[in-house]
Amino acid sequence: MKHMLTAVLSAAFLAAAASPGSAAGGDVFEAKGCVACHYTDGPAREKTIDDQLAKKGPELWYAGSKFQKDWLAGWLADPKPIRPMKFNSLTEENPGDHPKLDGADVAAVTDFLMTLTTDEVEAGKVKPKKNPKGRQIFIKKMPCSGCHQYVGRKKKISGGRSGPSLVEAGLRLNPDWILAYLQKPKVFKPVKMMPVFTGLLSDKDMTNVARHVASFKPKK
Ligand code: HEC
Ligand code: HEC
Repeated sequence: MKHMLTAVLSAAFLAAAASPGSAAGGDVFEAKGCVACHYTDGPAREKTIDDQLAKKGPELWYAGSKFQKDWLAGWLADPKPIRPMKFNSLTEENPGDHPKLDGADVAAVTDFLMTLTTDEVEAGKVKPKKNPKGRQIFIKKMPCSGCHQYVGRKKKISGGRSGPSLVEAGLRLNPDWILAYLQKPKVFKPVKMMPVFTGLLSDKDMTNVARHVASFKPKK
């Protein structure tokens, strides 16, 4: 009896959900065990360090505001390391063993993750563009390149390895999210945090460096 009721209720819920694809994706996300390593509820500031360490992967509650949809679908089908080091570690290499999805699951989970958006990211603030000021900040004025890989001169991968790689960040990240991440470190705070630049960089310079990072794309 209880089961029947649950079935009826979840059918009603599925029918009421905005997108059948994203509801199905939420089920796949659970069935494939993604929930064991990722939070899909936020914000991070309501979680303790212990809460965060209880999951082995990054928070995904703002995935729809962070990622570009095409990149996300491609990565879920064929995940390649993003962080040179293992998530939250300063000493261990990323084992590069992220679970893969295939077939219809890729599109369903992509749709589901793209519904996880946050008002903390303001749309239309950052237009990706080669930006000499942003470049200057990234490689000289601030230590960004000391912790993040990027494509430097002669197409050589340069930069440090302690933060996520920003090579092709322009295909992966929503430009407006990059700015929000710099402006509101407390909202998106992972355990292994990057230094806070609020107070060190003006909003204008944060926008410049966000534009620069968002322009990291393969050269045609
Ligand atoms: C055993 C733990 C684990 C499981 C299970 C897992 N993930 Fe992950 N996930 C990680 C780790 C660790 C990373 C960071 C990978 C990197 O930086 O290369 C990650 C990264 C991601 C990212 C990119 C997030 C970011 O901010 O860089 C997405 C999206 C993602 N996982 C989705 C999924 C989905 C969908 C599933 C289920 C099919 C899943 N994960 C299952 C541990 C896990
Ligand atoms: C001391 C090292 C360090 C410095 C310096 C640093 N970062 Fe970071 N950065 C990190 C770490 C650590 C993370 C988040 C770790 C995680 O999610 O695994 C991060 C995350 C990021 C992300 C999000 C990447 C993603 O895929 O989640 C962006 C974008 C970024 N940093 C840009 C910058 C910019 C721009 C600067 C300079 C103004 C900078 N960083 C300076 C270490 C650093």
